[in-house]
Amino acid sequence: MSDRNELQGRHIVLGLTGGIACYKSAELVRLLTKAGATVQVIMTEAAEAFITPVTMQALSGRLVYTSQWDARAANNMPHINLGREADAILIAPASADFLAKLATGRADELLSLTCLARPRESAALLVAPAMNREMWSHPATQRNIATLQADGTVVLGPGCGDQACGETGDGRMLEPEALRDALVAHFQPKVLTGRTVLVTAGPTFEPIDPVRGITNHSSGKMGFAIARAAQEAGADVTLVAGPVHLPTPAGVRRIDVMTAQQMYDVVLPAAAVHEVFIATAAVADWRPASQSDQKIKKEGKKVAPTFELTENPDILAAVAALPRPPYCVGFAAESEHLLMHAQAKLQRKRIPLIIGNLGPATFGRDDNSLLVVDAQSHHPLPADGSQADKLSLARLLMQELADRLARLPA
Ligand code: C5P
Repeated sequence: MSDRNELQGRHIVLGLTGGIACYKSAELVRLLTKAGATVQVIMTEAAEAFITPVTMQALSGRLVYTSQWDARAANNMPHINLGREADAILIAPASADFLAKLATGRADELLSLTCLARPRESAALLVAPAMNREMWSHPATQRNIATLQADGTVVLGPGCGDQACGETGDGRMLEPEALRDALVAHFQPKVLTGRTVLVTAGPTFEPIDPVRGITNHSSGKMGFAIARAAQEAGADVTLVAGPVHLPTPAGVRRIDVMTAQQMYDVVLPAAAVHEVFIATAAVADWRPASQSDQKIKKEGKKVAPTFELTENPDILAAVAALPRPPYCVGFAAESEHLLMHAQAKLQRKRIPLIIGNLGPATFGRDDNSLLVVDAQSHHPLPADGSQADKLSLARLLMQELADRLARLPA
C-alpha cells in the first residue's frame, strides 16, 4: 500500500534513539516519504553511534537535528519549533533508556525536549520500542510503558523474534512497513471507537477426500480490508477467515477456519458478543454429504465417481435470527442484476444492510465498486460509481456504518 499517498500532507518528526534497529529507520524514512509525508529526523547522540545524520539527511531531504543547542533556528529553540510543525512524533527505535526518560518527563537533550514540549492535541507521540527481551520484560520497562500509555502515548509493538544479541523473544522493533501502516492508521477518523466488529472473509473449503475439495475464487481481500479499516477506525475487531494467504491486519484478532460448518461454529457464539457483524465470506452453499477418509483413486475405475451434496448452514441468516442480533451487514456477489439480487437477499436474510458487488469483476482484484442497499434506498460507493481500491472502499464503508449505527435507537 506504499504508493497510495496515504500520508500526503502529513509532517512527521522521526526520532532515533540508540539501538541497532536504527538501520531500519533509514528504510522507514523512505517508506514515509514515499507515502507522501515530509519527515524531519531528530537523532540522539546514542543513535549517531549506529547510523549517521548524513544517511538520514539524504533520505529525508531535510537537515537532521541532533542537538538542543543547534543555532540554525532563528529563535534558537529547535525543541519548540520542531514539535509545533509535527502532525505526529514517532520514536523508532525507542530504547529502554529513552522510554524511561519519557515516562519521567526528563528532557536533557533535543529529542526528549521536543517530546515534552510538543502540543499534545495536535502532535501525538508514538513509540516503537526496540531492545533485548530481558530489558523489555523488566518490571521497570513495563512500568514505564504503562505510564506512557496512561499519558496517551501510542506504543507500537514490539515484535517477537530473533534479536541482534542472538537471543529470541519480545523486543524487536516493528518492521518499517508495519510502522508506516500504524501511522496511516493513526490518522484515520476514529468513527468506530468502542464498537466491537465481527468480520468473515475468504472462501470456505469443503473437503471431498483428504486432498480434494469444493471452494471458490474469493481471495479474502475485501474482508481483510474491512477488518483493517474497522480496526483503524477504533473498533475491536474479530476476523474469521477461510483458507487464504493474507497477512492479519495489525491489531485484529484472527480465527482461521476451513469449512462453512467450522465458520458457523465460531461465528454464532462470537456474534452474540459483537455489536456489528459483516459477512464478506463467500461461504459454500453446499458440501459433500459424506467425506471419504482416503483419497478417491482413479485407477481401476471405469466411471467417474459421484457424490451427494448437502446444504451448508446460512451463517448470516442464523446470526440475524439471534434473539439479540448484532447489526448485520451482508455481501452479495452477483454476476448480473446486482440491485435486484441484493434487495432480495436483504429480505431473505432479514438484515438491515447489504453491499452488492459484481463477483467476476472483483474476485482476487485490488479494485472494486460497491452498491449499498437497504430496505428504502441504494447508492454506490464511491458516490460517483467509480472503482476504488478495496481499502479505500472499506474505509468509506466504515464511515457509512458509523453513520447508520449512530442513527439506531439506543
Ligand atoms: O446466501 P448468499 O450467498 O446469496 O448471500 C451472501 C451473503 O450471505 C454474504 O454476506 C455471505 O457472507 C453470507 N453467507 C453466509 N452463510 C452462507 C452463505 C452466505 O453467511 N452459508
